[in-house]
Amino acid sequence: MEKFRKIAVLAGGISTEREVSIESGRNVADALESLGKYEVVRTVIDADSLEAMPEDVDAVYIALHGGWGENGGVQTALDALRIPYTGPGAEASRLAMDKIASKERFDACGVPTAPWCRISEGARPPFPFPFVVKTARGGSSIGVHLAKDVSSYEEALRMCLKLDSAGVIAEKYIAGREATVGIISGEALPVLEICSPGGWYDYEAKYLSDRTRYEFLKEGPLAADLKRIALDAYRSLGCRGVSRVDFRIGADGRAYVLEINTSPGFTSHSLVPKAGMATGLTFAEVCEKILLAAEFDAEKGGLA
Ligand SMILES: Nc1ncnc2c1ncn2[C@@H]1O[C@H](COP(=O)(O)OP(=O)(O)O)[C@@H](O)[C@H]1O
Ligand SMILES: [Mg+2]
Repeated sequence: MEKFRKIAVLAGGISTEREVSIESGRNVADALESLGKYEVVRTVIDADSLEAMPEDVDAVYIALHGGWGENGGVQTALDALRIPYTGPGAEASRLAMDKIASKERFDACGVPTAPWCRISEGARPPFPFPFVVKTARGGSSIGVHLAKDVSSYEEALRMCLKLDSAGVIAEKYIAGREATVGIISGEALPVLEICSPGGWYDYEAKYLSDRTRYEFLKEGPLAADLKRIALDAYRSLGCRGVSRVDFRIGADGRAYVLEINTSPGFTSHSLVPKAGMATGLTFAEVCEKILLAAEFDAEKGGLA
């Protein structure tokens, strides 16, 4: 007897990451179906609500990215319905989606993160050029800019404030390498280094370019450090199930957490499936492992 039989895979949504989510959802649904044990209901979400969700599902696989699907919204709704769902709970999702809230938590818990500050119109961050300007609630690198001088800073700030008037941060630019650590149920997967031509992992590099290379970091002190810090970061936000912790590694070899993605992508370019498969699982088995960890917060059920 399987733990869950009828699974709704939620994809789409109305965030800027809708198209990416549709691809993730299709891949996850195909994979779960291929296992031959689940009744998979492909559920396209067109509003910040569960209106489209079928009845009597045993669990929900959240393949939504960004917005309501990743910020605690859908998680709160599923807690209220007492339906188990993949990935972290509502509060951890909310913290992870908000770069200000998560960086405050990282700082408080001693998780290394790039030095940062909040910015508002008229203020100049205390970092030398170039530095990074980004929205607190962005995703897929939409709303992440490199300020090279005063005029590009002003332009970046203007664009960020248009996307998210409530939260824009500046961050010290960490020249160096980029890596990511997938986690499933408190277990860190092999570390992937992301080698983008230009050193900047933007939307084009993430989803469109075939010139971005991904290489597994060989096991050793750096990989061990990254896994340990990734797990500290995951625990500091109270995550469970699947997440992916993104890092920059400075020229001095020190690792800085950029952010935690609590609903990481499952497209053909995505990194959690790639890292999961490096442990010997198939793509479908990675999805199933994430599915079997689905939970809801019983005590949070009914919270608005
Ligand atoms: N402080 C930084 N130093 C160097 N590169 C950065 C920094 N912040 C962001 N980047 C680059 O921008 C990309 C996206 O930034 P990130 O903070 O992860 O936002 P998003 O939520 O949009 O993915 C990163 O993968 C990295 O390549
Ligand atoms: Mg990122």
